[in-house]
Amino acid sequence: MWTKNNMPDQTGKTAIVTGANAGIGFETAFALYQAGAHVILACRSQENADEAFSKIQAKKGSGTLETALLDLSSLAAVKQFAETFIQKHRQLHLLINNAGVMIPPASKTADGYELQFGVNFLGHFALTGYLYLLLNATPGSRIVTVSSLAYLNGVIDFDNLKSEKDYNAMREYCQSKLGNLIFSIELQRRITAANDQTVSIAAQPGANKTELTRHMSEEAFNTAVARVGELMDPWQGALPSLYAATSADAKAGELYGPDKDGGYRGYPARATITPNALDEQIAKKLWEWAEKVTGLNYPKL
Ligand SMILES: NC(=O)c1ccc[n+]([C@@H]2O[C@H](COP(=O)([O-])OP(=O)(O)OC[C@H]3O[C@@H](n4cnc5c(N)ncnc54)[C@H](OP(=O)(O)O)[C@@H]3O)[C@@H](O)[C@H]2O)c1
Repeated sequence: MWTKNNMPDQTGKTAIVTGANAGIGFETAFALYQAGAHVILACRSQENADEAFSKIQAKKGSGTLETALLDLSSLAAVKQFAETFIQKHRQLHLLINNAGVMIPPASKTADGYELQFGVNFLGHFALTGYLYLLLNATPGSRIVTVSSLAYLNGVIDFDNLKSEKDYNAMREYCQSKLGNLIFSIELQRRITAANDQTVSIAAQPGANKTELTRHMSEEAFNTAVARVGELMDPWQGALPSLYAATSADAKAGELYGPDKDGGYRGYPARATITPNALDEQIAKKLWEWAEKVTGLNYPKL
């Protein structure tokens, strides 16, 4: 059973955690801080970031903290965040692509993409791209992208990436979480092909009590809990991300998640990845589409 007590010392490491003010992101940031890392709490609200900063600092830990504004629903804001970060920091050991939104009312990003696909997938695609050179120049760096078991039901609908045909909240969430996993795996394929040194690993947190369900009705929430069973506390949901980010046994290009009850509960273990996330043609098409719409060319890949 791997817990955060098994984490190697993170002193001297710099880590960005997106969505660090709540749920799994908060616990991920806290654990990295406890282990000695310098953690950047990347949040879309300064007030929430400051609150998380104070809460973590009040606890025992040998790390240091910094807050930074990051709104993943705007590609311009993502670029601004990355540029500011690069001006300020010479190294980036860990990028934890954690932030996420689930089944909001139909809404779009500043760039016109469906909110879940835009924030969960496209925002993190752009963020990683802007920080890639720095990550790859930092020895021992890792890029951890948080997916979900929802990816199992995901399909990338290339004809509806802006959700112009119709809006089905859960379908779009599943698509975005499949996008996260495809991205993580394809990134590693490209890292390997370029013989680069950074690594890309995916995590899925299982079923946890967090604010992710904020857009669910009470009835829908109760139905979901009846289906998946007891929810874990967010500290436990953070373990797969922490394992992917710090364990010497975590392997590039893999997915880690809870080991029990079909991946809903338990402690980190390697998860089997289903074919919908391993299709190389879909990955290439999605990657090229994302590069085109973000205007990003991943260095050397
Ligand atoms: N909870 C689960 O059981 C579960 C299961 C599978 C996967 N996941 C994944 O785990 C990750 C963390 O979710 P959680 O459960 O911890 O949910 P959460 O408690 O709702 O936290 C989500 C975080 O993402 C941030 N966020 C949302 N939209 C953003 C944006 N546009 N720009 C920047 N940050 C944004 C939120 O900020 P605000 O507080 O300002 O909204 C919050 O900090 C997500 O990727 C989610 O898909 C969770």
